[in-house]
Amino acid sequence: MTADPGNTAAQDIYKLLIGLIVPRPIAFVSTVDAAGVRNLAPFSFFTCASADPPVIAFSPMVRGAEGVKDTLRNIRETREFVVNIVSEEIAGEMNLASGEYPPEVDEFVMSGLTPVASGLVAPPRVKQARASMECKLFQIVEVSKRRLGGSLVLGEVVRFHVEDSIVDHFRVDPDGLKAIGRMGGTSYTRTRDRFDMERPKV
Ligand SMILES: Cc1cc2nc3c(=O)[nH]c(=O)nc-3n(C[C@H](O)[C@H](O)[C@H](O)COP(=O)(O)O)c2cc1C
Repeated sequence: MTADPGNTAAQDIYKLLIGLIVPRPIAFVSTVDAAGVRNLAPFSFFTCASADPPVIAFSPMVRGAEGVKDTLRNIRETREFVVNIVSEEIAGEMNLASGEYPPEVDEFVMSGLTPVASGLVAPPRVKQARASMECKLFQIVEVSKRRLGGSLVLGEVVRFHVEDSIVDHFRVDPDGLKAIGRMGGTSYTRTRDRFDMERPKV
């Protein structure tokens, strides 16, 4: 098949994107609003953008017609967030936290996950996550305000937390991390089936 976005429904283009760009890692993002109310939500439009400085990026899409998700609103207000990595053990809690709850709902309480104070930013990290990254806002790129549009949030990591038992000289053991990834629809993948390849030495 071929599809041109100009004459294809945006919902179908969305299906192509989430079916083709797989597996996607999941940023489980904790924020607080200006009054300190906590928020926690998963985002699979997630990657890293730079290692020096370490900048990571995720994309909250427009909610409904033109609504702003709590995560984006909080980051605009406070310029801080934490990205927690989702391992197999907390997949269910992550899914619970993804509900479209009103802003006053604390998804830590909703999902049963435990907030732990961060060192350098106001939003807490998730205790049950094996790794978390404290971030200060680097830049927000508003790509589109349309339904199914979104904004790219770039954050500079100011502190990494990795469970001691899964890291050796900065090398993370994937079997310890047990990260999960998002596929299309409601599907997820584990990260246990891997293979190695040396890059060409040129
Ligand atoms: C695994 C997973 C990945 C998701 N990825 C995204 C994403 O990349 N962008 C987005 O806008 N919403 C994504 N969602 C939906 C949000 O988590 C959901 O809209 C959430 O309610 C937003 O919370 P907030 O309003 O508290 O920020 C995802 C949901 C799940 C379960």
